[in-house]
Amino acid sequence: MKRILSGIQPTGHLHLGNHLGAIRNWVRLQDEFECLFCVVDMHAITVWQEPAELIANTREVAMAVLAAGIDPEKNVLFVQSHVPGHAQLAWIFNCVARLGWLNRMTQFKEKAGKSRENASVGLFAYPDLMAADILLYKATHVPVGEDQKQHLELTRDIAQKFNNDFGTELFPIVEPLIFGPATRVMSLRDGTNKMSKSDPSDYSRINMTDDAELIALKIRKAKTDPELIPDSVDGIEGRPEAANLMGIYAALADQELEAICAQFGGWQFSKFKAELSDLAVARLGPITSEINRLKDDPAYVDGVLRDGAERARAIAEPVIEEVYKTVGFLTGNG
Ligand code: AMP
Ligand code: TRP
Repeated sequence: MKRILSGIQPTGHLHLGNHLGAIRNWVRLQDEFECLFCVVDMHAITVWQEPAELIANTREVAMAVLAAGIDPEKNVLFVQSHVPGHAQLAWIFNCVARLGWLNRMTQFKEKAGKSRENASVGLFAYPDLMAADILLYKATHVPVGEDQKQHLELTRDIAQKFNNDFGTELFPIVEPLIFGPATRVMSLRDGTNKMSKSDPSDYSRINMTDDAELIALKIRKAKTDPELIPDSVDGIEGRPEAANLMGIYAALADQELEAICAQFGGWQFSKFKAELSDLAVARLGPITSEINRLKDDPAYVDGVLRDGAERARAIAEPVIEEVYKTVGFLTGNG
C-alpha cells in the first residue's frame, strides 16, 4: 500500500514557494495515493508564536490547502496537535535518535543561528517529531521541497534503528517525492536565498493572499541582472535571479525550462516580467478568491479539521498501541 503524509507549518502567510514546492504537488498526488496532510502546529511552536496568530495561521493554512484543490473527503486533512500520537511517538524517537545525528541537521543550524544556547530544545528535537508525523501513519512516501531531504534521511535512520533495536519490521523506510522545476523558489529580492515566510521584506515573496495588483508590483520590482533573457538553459548559469523568475514561469506554465528559454530568449526582463505576472495572476487568482470565500466560513473549515483528526486518530491509535507493546510499555491498564 502506498500512503503519503506531508506537513506544513502554520507560521505565517503561505507563499508561492509553499504552493509550487508543496501544496500543488499534493493536489496531483491525491488520485494516486492515500493521502494525509497535516498542519503542524507543534512544529511551529519550536520558535515563538503569538497564540492568537497561531490559531489564525492554522486555519489559513487549512484554507489554502482546500483552496488549492485538496478534496477533504478523499484525503485526511488535520491539525497535528489534535492527534496525541504525534507527541507520544516523538518522545520514543527522542530516545532512538542519537545526539550526533541531530547535530548534523543544517536546518537547526540555520534557524538557531549564533544563539544556539538560546534555541528551544524543541527546535533541536524537531526532526524527531517530523519522523513521528510520518511513521505514526506508516507512510511510505513523503512529498517535500528540497530543503527537507535531510530530515527524511533522518526519518529513515530512525525507522531502521527502531526496527533493528527491537527486531521488528514495524516501520517502513520512507521515500521522498521531490518535484519538478520550481522545487526551490527563491526570494524575489535575492536569487540566492529561499523564498520564505520569515523574510522581513514582503517584497521577497508572493503570498497566496496577495491580489493581482500586488503580485504584478512585486514581480515588477523583483531583482534581475542587466542582461537579456537567455535563450538556452546553459545561459542561465551564474544568473540566480534569471533562473528563479524563469523557473517560476516554467512551474506555473507546467513546462520545461528549455521551452521557456526558447520562447523568451533575447527578451528584455521588463517584457518577460509582464508575461510572468499575467501568468501568476491567472494561476493564483482562483486560489486566492477561494481562500477569501473560505475565510467567511470558518465553521466549515473547523468541521473539515475535526473530521480529519478523527480519521487520523483511527489510523494512529493502533500504531501507538503496537509501538508501546514493542518498546515494553505495560499496556492495557491506562
Ligand atoms: P514551511 O514553509 O517551511 O513550513 O514549508 C512547507 C512546505 O513548503 C515544505 O514542503 C517545504 O519544502 C516547502 N517550501 C517552503 N519554502 C519553499 C521554497 N522557497 N521553495 C520550494 N518549496 C518550499
Ligand atoms: N519540517 C517541514 C517543513 O519545515 C514540515 C513538516 C513537519 C513535514 N512534519 C512533516 C513535512 C512531515 C513532511 C512530512 O517544511
